[in-house]
Amino acid sequence: MGGSLYSSPATPRSTGEEISRRAVLTSAGALALSACGPRDAQSQSVPADLPPLKTVAPFRVGSCVQALRLDDPALADLLAREVSQLTPEWEMKMEYIVQPDGSFRFDAPDRIAAFARAHGMGLLGHTLVWYAQAPPAFEQLDETRIRFADAYRNYIHAVAGRYRGQVVGWDVVNEAVAEDGAGWRDSLWARKLGAFEHIALAYRTAREADPQATLLLNDYNLEYMPAKRATFLKLAERLLASGAPLTGLGTQMHVAADIAPGKITQMIHELASLGLPIHVSELDVSLTRSDNKLLSRGELQRRQTAVYAEAAEAFMSLPQRQRFAFTLWGLRDRDSWLKKENAGDAPAPFDDAGRPKAGAAALVEAFRT
Ligand code: XIL
Repeated sequence: MGGSLYSSPATPRSTGEEISRRAVLTSAGALALSACGPRDAQSQSVPADLPPLKTVAPFRVGSCVQALRLDDPALADLLAREVSQLTPEWEMKMEYIVQPDGSFRFDAPDRIAAFARAHGMGLLGHTLVWYAQAPPAFEQLDETRIRFADAYRNYIHAVAGRYRGQVVGWDVVNEAVAEDGAGWRDSLWARKLGAFEHIALAYRTAREADPQATLLLNDYNLEYMPAKRATFLKLAERLLASGAPLTGLGTQMHVAADIAPGKITQMIHELASLGLPIHVSELDVSLTRSDNKLLSRGELQRRQTAVYAEAAEAFMSLPQRQRFAFTLWGLRDRDSWLKKENAGDAPAPFDDAGRPKAGAAALVEAFRT
């Protein structure tokens, strides 16, 4: 029984043992995976004996994963070999957890949590509040039974409470800043609870539910858009000034291979100026999202490697206490969400067969220096 929007979170939290038993019992069904495609032509060489990312990095290296993909032994092995942290790609979002009747389901996120625990990996909770997801149970909340703010708090308590002691951190609010950087996002949460107030309330509630986790504010395009970055930092400062327990900043870094050199470094340093730990939270480097359509595929691949190198070097240049973790939004090309947008994309540091591309070698090189 996972609780509901209508019940307060006084229900006892599951123990880790219960969760792993449930996760083992959960049959995720068969996942048909297509055969590996041919390796992208890479003019760049990769050492045959490249060490795993997690063994060279002096901080946690992460990847996102979906529960069903854990059925693919090749991916499970690659994750176990390369990374020390997992982010559920979507099953810890409201869209998955909140059912139409307001009840919660935790089978898939529990399964990812169990996998992380079994492999000694950190778990990054993603995400409690996101403007992009307002499940019908919240939109049609029966406010004669419960106040909106109480249902919102119940949700955060139930989810952050369930994984207390298991997660290293939470993306408490995801993508709070407006697309153009002018102010904050409109959302159901903002309309019901207030544009700033719902954000501050999420941090305070997450802290009640989990006294230890790093509580992050996570956003994207911060390297491309100085105005959005400025608003993001202002929001962080306002949260801190209000006493909200914001304790880390996440920068997604869904970037394209033709991003101008230097932009990523500048962004990382500006974010770090607040003194909070920094999470590179969703890095991938798209070939097909590049604006410059004149670049050959070989040149895009070369630039992709350079972007992975810049991201890793910029992160390495931070003081050790500010390096929260470095997370890739998928290890293998074939698993990337960007494939849905363009099947020809190959944004990850490992190819479809899980072999390291030059981007992985660039990460290793930067992490071990
Ligand atoms: C994406 C996942 O990769 C997809 O599988 C899912 O369908 C939608 O969300 N920013 C975020 C992530 O914070 O949660 C998004 O993940 C990618 C953009």
